[in-house]
Amino acid sequence: MSAPVAKSMTEEEGNLFQLLRQLDLTPDASQRAISAAIGVSLGRLNAQLRAAAEAGFIKISEREGPDRRQRFAYALTSRGAVEKARLADRFLARKFREYQALHAELTGSASSYVPTTTRTRLMQSNLAPIPELFVSYDSAQKLKVEAGELVSHDLTPRQICDLELLMNGGFYPLKGFLGEEDYNGVVNDMRLADGALWPMPITLDVTEKFADSIELGQDIALRDQEGVILATMTVTDKWEPNKSLEAEKVFGADDDAHPAVNYLHNTAGKIYLGGPITGIQQPVHYDFRARRDTPNELRAYFRKLGWRKVVAFQTRNPLHRAHQELTFRAARESQANLLIHPVVGMTKPGDVDHFTRVRCYEAVLDKYPASTTSMSLLPLAMRMAGPREAVWHGLIRKNYGVTHFIVGRDHAGPGKNSAGEDFYGPYDAQELFKQHEEEMGIEMVPFKHMVYVEERAQYEPADEIADKDSVNILNISGTELRRRLQEGLEIPEWFSFPEVVAELRRTKPPRSKQGFTVFFTGFSGSGKSTIANALMTKLMEMGGRPVTLLDGDIVRKNLSSELGFSKEHRDLNIRRIGYVASEITKNGGIAICAPIAPYAATRRAVREDVEQFGAFVEVHVATTIEECERRDRKGLYKLAREGKIKEFTGISDPYDVPANPELRVETEGTEVDNCAHQVILKLESMGLIAGL
Ligand code: PPS
Repeated sequence: MSAPVAKSMTEEEGNLFQLLRQLDLTPDASQRAISAAIGVSLGRLNAQLRAAAEAGFIKISEREGPDRRQRFAYALTSRGAVEKARLADRFLARKFREYQALHAELTGSASSYVPTTTRTRLMQSNLAPIPELFVSYDSAQKLKVEAGELVSHDLTPRQICDLELLMNGGFYPLKGFLGEEDYNGVVNDMRLADGALWPMPITLDVTEKFADSIELGQDIALRDQEGVILATMTVTDKWEPNKSLEAEKVFGADDDAHPAVNYLHNTAGKIYLGGPITGIQQPVHYDFRARRDTPNELRAYFRKLGWRKVVAFQTRNPLHRAHQELTFRAARESQANLLIHPVVGMTKPGDVDHFTRVRCYEAVLDKYPASTTSMSLLPLAMRMAGPREAVWHGLIRKNYGVTHFIVGRDHAGPGKNSAGEDFYGPYDAQELFKQHEEEMGIEMVPFKHMVYVEERAQYEPADEIADKDSVNILNISGTELRRRLQEGLEIPEWFSFPEVVAELRRTKPPRSKQGFTVFFTGFSGSGKSTIANALMTKLMEMGGRPVTLLDGDIVRKNLSSELGFSKEHRDLNIRRIGYVASEITKNGGIAICAPIAPYAATRRAVREDVEQFGAFVEVHVATTIEECERRDRKGLYKLAREGKIKEFTGISDPYDVPANPELRVETEGTEVDNCAHQVILKLESMGLIAGL
């Protein structure tokens, strides 16, 4: 990373910087103490304070109490904090120049050119502290109060992850959510407007309504989902991004089968806000606190242990023997210590939850030679962007003080696209990393595909086995492992550690003992409720798991009684059903849902909610609209035709026919009992109920 951009700092800016820094450090000090600390007269200090208050950098308020010398209290505003950070960069730039001049003088190289990187390397050591965006503790307390008056944005889980890494320096050199110019540079060329390499757009997406209520230049408060204030942001940019272009450029295709593209189109708000951040406090984590470190904490840890070279292993999966062997070899080859650096923010939908994974990692940690290896948890929200993601991961690890980074086959791969093909080539990530390795200042250790050689009872890199035709090579793929876990089958010792397997079995019992959701969708009057009721009775007869029916009509009487049938209300209704179904599934029950659910994107969102915890079985009750209208059990179609009911699905409102439901049932000419039985057979074939 290059030295801060060297724009010279005027004397006036130098004075302002000193003042803001002092007020941030000692916001409760008297004027006399402040003037002594920054070395100016009281009169001059007064003039400076007035000017800073007029510029909106500080807030001056009257203080209670008898002490005349302590009449006023001073607090940095969020704008002041941002200005202080900007001036700190200028200050550093000046120091860099002074350092360069001194270096040239001492080495006698004043007349010859000394590359900046060589001159500044000492100061850029991977173990020196890295800039954070937090203000001091005392200023934070004051800002919290001041921010009570600001308009608030409640951050989404992904934005909370991004903000944490922005504030703690994990996303250095970013100073906030990207503005439009930086965003365009990142999307098109993987570079910020100042030319620094940055492959991933870190954006604050909001709804149009929220964006309309914000003026440029306004400060907003960023809060977590419980309303705790984490930071303020000065909004410098507001724009409507071209999301399809972002998808094409950053993720390689505008295809909703890519989890980040799906997020972009179906979860993220329409408008992006950008601007510098003033950090107030880190998001609170109650889990595995001792295993969480900021970049500066990890740097300090490496410094303390004298770890000059550290190779990091990024992972979102449990570690098995092959990973242990691979990471161990990577450390040996690069003569570095090893950091297991798993992502615990957001990973790919359907991954093993991080609680289980961390317990698995802790079991594996004991298998490494003592004091060579450490583990720290990274609160990153992954995007599964393959090559760009690998470069991003490298830059983040560099910020955490790491010198080497393992990049594997299909690093951060998102799975198949909607045509059933891979989004990226298996070694695209390694290639892109290699192209930028020097500039990034972190070395890639390419991942070797390790396989088990039965005759020698050890793992070896697949491409280094000379006698591969005469030995027995064993491997269990991720899909095969999931199948064995789901069906309660044996997982051999050569593949994983018994502690890891036991942990996985504990959280993932065989499918026939897990919760799941059956989600019926179809027109009003298609027969969803009737089949759902029959199915419920059959499942209750089998016993073993509690069964809950969330029928369209019943939900609208209870959960969603205030909602109508606009797109917005229907989506809200279905998301509520999805939320309840996912809770039931998580707790080992069976949820049967039977709403119309006309929109494919909303059904997909519900699927994602549920699949974190168990299977989601979509059943399309494919009765034609003509047949439903002919039956017209509730007389609603007649009213809809007469225009007395508006926005009626199939008549005056759309219905997206499910493209790939787990099951499609035709009700015309088929008994209800038979339809329900088809669902039972499907559940059985998926291993969700034990054989009939
Ligand atoms: S949605 O779109 O999924 O939120 O709809 P849902 O909650 O399943 O609708 C439940 C029943 O509401 C009756 N109804 C309508 N359906 C569609 N469009 C309009 N405008 C409408 N107004 C009322 C309808 O009888 C649905 O019944 P069933 O037969 O249970 O699907």
